[in-house]
Formats: sequence, C-alpha cells, structure tokens
Amino acid sequence: MSRFQVGYFVGSISSGSINRQLAQALIPLAPERLAFCEIPIVDLPLYRRDYDDDYPAAGRALKDAIAAVDAVLFVTPEYNRSIPGALKNAIDWASRPRGTNSFAHKPSAVIGASTGRLGTAFAQQSLRSVLSFCNSPQMNAPEAYITVTPGLIEDDGRVTVESTEAFLRMFMEEFDAFIERVLTVLPPRA
Ligand code: FNR
Repeated sequence: MSRFQVGYFVGSISSGSINRQLAQALIPLAPERLAFCEIPIVDLPLYRRDYDDDYPAAGRALKDAIAAVDAVLFVTPEYNRSIPGALKNAIDWASRPRGTNSFAHKPSAVIGASTGRLGTAFAQQSLRSVLSFCNSPQMNAPEAYITVTPGLIEDDGRVTVESTEAFLRMFMEEFDAFIERVLTVLPPRA
C-alpha cells in the first residue's frame, strides 16, 4: 500500500484559529496511509515580481515543501467572502518564478471552517478558481463547508458531533481515493 504525503495549508495565521483546529481534527480521521505535514505560510513576506530573478529562501522553502508532498490540502477561513490574503500570498509565491508553478499536476482538496452559516463557501469558490489556473487537479466532491460552534472540536482535535465526525472521515477517505486516481494517471514529475 503506497503511503501518500499530504501537505496542508492553514489559511489563517491567527492564534486560536478554528481552521487550524479543523486541520488537527482531520488528521486522525484520515486513512492510515495518508501522512501529514503543515506547509507554513506565516513568515512569507508579500510576494513581488522583483524576487523572480533570485528567489528568496522563504520562497524556495515553500516550493521545496510542496515538491516534497504528493498532494495538498487547503483548510481555510473566508475573509470578506474570499481567500484570506496570507493564503493568496502563499499561493502566489508557490506559483512563481514563471514556468515553475509548484501546483501544476499536484492533487488538491479544499475545506474550510467559519463561524458563519455559509461555512467558507465563497472563499472556497475563489480558491478553486485560483487552483484551476494553477493547473492543480482538484477534488470536486464532496464539498465541505464547516460551521464551527463552541465545543464542536475539542482542544485535542476530537470532533464532538458524530455526524460531523463521520462526514469529515468520509471527506478524507474520498481525498485519499482522489489522490490515488490522480497519481495513477498523472505520476509526479521527476
Ligand atoms: C471574517 N469572518 C468571515 N466569516 C465568514 O463566514 N465570511 C466572511 O466573509 C468573513 N469575513 C471575515 C473577514 C475578516 C477580516 C475576519 C477577521 C473574519 C469570520 C471568520 O469566519 C472567523 O473569524 C473565523 O474564526 C476565521 O477563521 P480562523 O482564523 O479562526 O481560522
């Protein structure tokens, strides 16, 4: 059984992020053959095109981290009905320098948690459009819009509502199957 490495992005850099909590809840619910590492975005400066000729260490580290995984998972909040700036900035960094887009052919999935009832649906649509442009094969379904209420996710990552836990488990099983399908027809580039 192949083991797949999944790099996950948390779209929030806030302390006490509910999206970080969600990411921590998802890991133990995933099939055993998925291994996880966070791809950090907090220390990236704002991207500018001047960097492309001599890419700074922070950008190279981000690109190396993406190259080292089989798939990426985005766990993100919604800011003003769109992608949080910190996450968009990280995607911009990873997509450059021109011709070295790190997301090309990299399987991805998107999930998000909000305190509002729309559960990051708009942010996810924006993110999907960005990932399409970046040529990342995306898991289309299931979609996962999580409204976090107090106590839904415990500090240790345990999900307290059985139906939500079952849904998140199913989401990760589908992601596992999706990664396998994509990598079968689209083996990672050497
Ligand atoms: C929000 N929030 C929010 N929620 C939502 O459902 N739709 C939105 O468009 C927004 N917009 C928004 C903008 C900004 C600048 C902030 C700070 C917050 C609320 C958001 O869902 C809530 O703060 C979450 O807790 C953010 O996720 P993290 O940072 O806890 O993971």
